[in-house]
Amino acid sequence: MAFLADALDRVKPSATIAVSQKARELKAKGRDVIGLGAGEPDFDTPDNIKKAAIEAIERGETKYTPISGIPELRQAISKKFKRENGLDYAPEQTIVGTGGKQVLFNAFMATLNPGDEVVIPAPYWVSYPEMVAICGGTPVFVEAGMETNFKLSPEALEKAITPKTKWFLFNSPSNPTGAAYTHAEVKALTDVLMRHPHVWVMTDDMYEHLVYGDFTFATPAQVEPGLYERTITINGVSKAYAMTGWRIGYAGGPLPLIKAMDMIQGQQTSGACSIAQWAAVEALNGTQDFIPKNRDLFQSRRDLVVSMLNQATGIECPTPEGAFYVYPSCKALIGRRTEGGTVIDSDATFVTELLEAEGVAVVQGSAFGLGPNFRISYATSEALLEEACSRIQRFCASLKA
Ligand SMILES: Cc1ncc(COP(=O)(O)O)c(C=O)c1O
Repeated sequence: MAFLADALDRVKPSATIAVSQKARELKAKGRDVIGLGAGEPDFDTPDNIKKAAIEAIERGETKYTPISGIPELRQAISKKFKRENGLDYAPEQTIVGTGGKQVLFNAFMATLNPGDEVVIPAPYWVSYPEMVAICGGTPVFVEAGMETNFKLSPEALEKAITPKTKWFLFNSPSNPTGAAYTHAEVKALTDVLMRHPHVWVMTDDMYEHLVYGDFTFATPAQVEPGLYERTITINGVSKAYAMTGWRIGYAGGPLPLIKAMDMIQGQQTSGACSIAQWAAVEALNGTQDFIPKNRDLFQSRRDLVVSMLNQATGIECPTPEGAFYVYPSCKALIGRRTEGGTVIDSDATFVTELLEAEGVAVVQGSAFGLGPNFRISYATSEALLEEACSRIQRFCASLKA
């Protein structure tokens, strides 16, 4: 439609939301559907956080807040970065946005000019390339495939950098693969970045607290202090505290960048919801008991899903270090036929036929830029995960050579 902006030609709708929509439609028709597409914890926000929000309403914290966030939250963020990441970000070096998503968006908005390149390891979270494109930049994808446990090699990063590279976008633990980089693996990448002083680092640490076993989370500016002046460290409360609907994300970074993002936000949303900000103060400053409980729960779900998927014919499922996703390959099933005669020619067909045959909704790897794989979110009950994995096993066994 001629009326709409050209920028829309560069943007695709979210494939993950499309799968959830399709699953909802089938459910509405009375089908028994298990949705494993959603990227959010399946349980409620902890009570102490809800209570802080109720108290904020009762105190009348219902007015516009400073654009970058209430001082109490910026202070709590500054303390969180110091306590958990060993990073010194003064409160004025932090900014609060309407979800981590908006913080990422504003960082791109504040920095990208036409022709600027953003290096994005693939598979990637669906929103990264679209955000870059809306802001006029060029996403440059670098493959981080199953052979390297979905982690980018320093050699591949080195090759992807050009004089036009503005940002390297780093996400660990990753959506969609769950892969998380060890300290040494982060260091290998930051060593490359130290040789390219024009490249800035945008790190999305949203799944920081969801790492399993004895894995220790590491973030680039902590691993390589030499990158501090050109790194923005982005995080949020959505995944760590089961607060997706509250829409609070935040960042720490160099003052001039934070100020530029503040200016954009001032003309855009005027800042995040006052009540949600008070809830986030309690999330960051209050008891952290929720985090280890949450982590243990997700770890046992991960172990269940990985084990059951590896028992399915033709599926290969690596064990990820973090987040609540697995990213199995269905490569060995390409070329097989369903009982109805459809040839599985791609991960997209695999996903569609699985939904039709067994009512299990997952997302095709092609949506995340690397296949033939599919993403399963295990943020749902063990009972449902067990049932869903049994159905996947049955579906895979039913495919004919
Ligand atoms: C990798 C990654 N970054 C950022 C976000 C955005 O989180 P928020 O809910 O804080 O906007 C998500 C949410 O799915 C995510 O998976």
